[in-house]
Amino acid sequence: MEQYAIKGGNPLVGEVEIGGAKNAALAILAAAIMTDETVLIENVPDVRDTNVLIQAMESIGVIVNRIDRHTVKINASHIHDLTIEDDYIKKIRASYYLLGALLGKYRKAEVSLPGGCNIGLRPIDQHIKGFRALGANVRIEHGLIITETEELKGNHIYLDVVSVGATINVMMAATMAAGKTTIENAAKEPHVVDLANFLNSMGADIKGAGTDVIRIKGVSRLHGSEYTIIPDQIEAGTFMFAAAVTKGDVMVKNVIPKHLESISAKLLEIGCEVEESDDAVRVVSSKPLGHTHVKTLPYPGFPTDMQPQIVVALGLSLGTSIVTESIFENRFKYVDELTRMGASIKVEGNTAIIDGVTRYTGASITAPDLRAGAALVIAGLSAEGITVVDDIKFIERGYEDFHIKLQSLGAQIEKVDTERELQKFKLKVG
Ligand code: UD1
Repeated sequence: MEQYAIKGGNPLVGEVEIGGAKNAALAILAAAIMTDETVLIENVPDVRDTNVLIQAMESIGVIVNRIDRHTVKINASHIHDLTIEDDYIKKIRASYYLLGALLGKYRKAEVSLPGGCNIGLRPIDQHIKGFRALGANVRIEHGLIITETEELKGNHIYLDVVSVGATINVMMAATMAAGKTTIENAAKEPHVVDLANFLNSMGADIKGAGTDVIRIKGVSRLHGSEYTIIPDQIEAGTFMFAAAVTKGDVMVKNVIPKHLESISAKLLEIGCEVEESDDAVRVVSSKPLGHTHVKTLPYPGFPTDMQPQIVVALGLSLGTSIVTESIFENRFKYVDELTRMGASIKVEGNTAIIDGVTRYTGASITAPDLRAGAALVIAGLSAEGITVVDDIKFIERGYEDFHIKLQSLGAQIEKVDTERELQKFKLKVG
C-alpha cells in the first residue's frame, strides 16, 4: 500500500503553483454534459475525484478527450444511458452533480447514492427538496437516487442549511427549467460562482451567484464553451499552512487572494507574515506561532476543509486555542493520529481544545480522509524524525502531485510502496 515517508525539520522555502479547484472542476465537468455541443475546459486538476467523475461520464456515452494533463474536451451529444451505477462513483461525493445536470437536460437521472469523505452524516435532503420544488419526482431505490419528471418548472426555493452541493445541484437543474427560479440561503463559495460563470458562458441566465440569493431564468438549450477553472482555494491554503508550520517562506502562486482572506487573516493572527499580490500570496513564518480561536463557517468564513490544517498549526502554538467545527459533526477523527505525534488536544463534541506543544515527533499514522490526510503530512514535515502516512489514496483524491510540490519546496518526502522502499528512504535521509 502506498505511503508517504517524511523526514521532518526542513523549513519549506520557494514557490509553488496551485492547480485548478477540485470542487469547481467536479461541478463544471458535470455541467458540461448539459449541452450537445463541444466544451473545452482548462485547468482541470489531475486528481482521483475528477478522474473518477470523468470515468462515470464516459460510462454513459460522454466523449472526453484529454488535450493535455489539465485540459479536456467534452462532447455529450451521444449519451445513451441516464443511470450511473458505477462502483467507483459511490466513492466520490460529487457524483450527485450528475443528477442535477441530467435532470436539467433529460428530465431524468438515476445515480448511486454518494459517498465521499467520512466526516459525519452528509444528508442530501436539501438537494431532494430543490429538485421536488422544480417539479421532479425523487425516490431512493436499490441504492440509487432516481429523479424524473415530464416538465421542470422554475420555483422559489429556500435552502434550510447553507449547502454547497444543494446550491450547485439545484442551480444546474433550474438552468434548464421553464421560467424563473430563486434559490435563497444559497452557498457563496468560489466554486458556486465559478459554476454559474461557466453555465452563463454556455448560454444560461444566472444572476447573484456569490450572494445569498441566486436568480435563474431557465433556457431551453445550452451551447458549447471554452472555460478555465479557478485556482484551488484549499490547495493554496494547505501550502500556506505548510509554510507556517515548518517556519518557512513560501510564495503560493496562481491563486485568487480574495478567496484566501479568511485563511490569511488567521495566519496573520498567529504571527505569520502574509504578503498578497495580484495572483500570489507569500507566507513567511519566522516567529513562534501564537494561539487563536477558530470557528468553521460557510464562505466567506473559515473553511471546514482547512480545519485540520489550522489545528496542526495551533497544536504547535504558544497557549491554548479553541477550534469549533460548525459544518460537519465528525471532523476531528485525525486528532488521535496527531496525538500520537505529541499533540495535546481534547475534543468535546464539535470543539477541539488545543494546548500548544513545542514540537511534534514522527510516528506511523493513517490519513482518515482527504484534508485531514494533508494536514497530517504537514505535521510530519514539522516533526522531529520520520513520519509514515498510510492511506494516502485519500490525499490523492484532491491534491495533484502533493509530494512532488512539497519536494520542490525542500521537503524530505517520498511516496513509498514497500517496506524496502521505506528502509531505503530512511537510509537516505539518515
Ligand atoms: C462541499 C465540498 C466539501 C466541503 C463542503 C463545505 C465539494 C465536492 N465538496 O461538500 O469539500 O467540505 O462543501 O464547504 O464541493 N447538508 C444537509 N442537507 C443537504 C446538504 C447538506 O443537511 O441536503 C448539511 C451537511 O450535512 C453539512 C452542511 O449542510 O452539515 C454543509 O454541507 P454542503 O455544503 O452540502 O457540503 P458538500 O456539498 O457535501
